[in-house]
Amino acid sequence: MTEQTAKRYGAVAMTLHWVIATAIVGMIVVGKYMHNLPDTNPDKFALYQLHKSFGITIFVLTLARIGWRLGHPVPPLPVGMATWERWAAHGMHFVLYAAMLGMPLSGWLRVSTDRLGIPTLFFGLFEVPAFPLVSDTLTMWLHDLHELGGNLLIPLLVLHVAAALKHHFWDRDDVLKRMLPFTRVD
Ligand code: HEM
Ligand code: HEM
Repeated sequence: MTEQTAKRYGAVAMTLHWVIATAIVGMIVVGKYMHNLPDTNPDKFALYQLHKSFGITIFVLTLARIGWRLGHPVPPLPVGMATWERWAAHGMHFVLYAAMLGMPLSGWLRVSTDRLGIPTLFFGLFEVPAFPLVSDTLTMWLHDLHELGGNLLIPLLVLHVAAALKHHFWDRDDVLKRMLPFTRVD
C-alpha cells in the first residue's frame, strides 16, 4: 500500500480523492438530468433516491477524508510556485472541501424542510432522519442554494483539473503524479 509521505499522497488519500471526484461528477450529471425529468417519468423517484443516497455517502466519505488529512502530513507544494499560485491552490482546495460538505448538507436540508415529506431511503436499506423543520421559504432558498452550488462547482472543477494538467504538462512538476496511483515520485 502506498504510504503518505512528505512527497506524495498515500493510498487512503488517493482512493478517497478519486472515489469522491467520480461520485461528484456523477451527482452533477444525474442531478441535472433528474431535475429535468417530467414528474410522470417512472424512473424519477428511484433516481432521486439514488442521488440522495450517493450524496449522503459523499458527505460521510468527506468527513473521513478531512479526518485523515488532519492526521497525516500533506505534501507541500513545489518550491518554485509563485505566492499567488499557492494561495489559489489552497483557496481552491478549501472551496472544494466546502462544496463536498455544503452540497450534501443543503440537499439534505432542502428535502427535510419540504412539506411533501418524501423520505430519503439510503440505498433502500433504512430511512435517513430528516431535519425537524418544515418551511416553504427555507425549501425555496435551499433549493436555489443547492442548484447554484452545483452550477458554481462545474467551472471550479474545470479550473481544478486545468491546474493539475498545467502542473503536469507545463511546469512538469510532480503535483499530478503524487495524486495518481502507480506512479513514482522521486
Ligand atoms: C469532483 C471532482 C474533484 C474534487 C471535488 C477534487 C477535490 C480535491 C481537493 C479538495 C484536493 C486537495 C487535497 C488535499 O490536499 O487535501 C485535491 C487535490 C488534487 N486533485 Fe482533485 N478533485 C477533483 C477532481 C480532480 C481531477 C479530475 C483531477 C485530475 C486532473 C484532480 C487532480 C488533483 C490533484 C493533482 C491534486 C493534488 C494537488 C496537490 O498535490 O496539491 N482532481 N482535489
Ligand atoms: C456532493 C453532493 C451533491 C451534489 C454535487 C449534488 C448536485 C446536484 C445538482 C447539480 C442538482 C441539479 C440542480 C439543478 O440544476 O436544478 C441536484 C438536485 C437535487 N439534489 Fe443534489 N447534490 C448532492 C447531494 C444531495 C443530497 C445529499 C440530497 C438530499 C439528501 C440532494 C437532493 C437533491 C434534490 C432533491 C434535487 C432536485 C431539486 C429539484 O428537482 O427541485 N442532493 N443536486
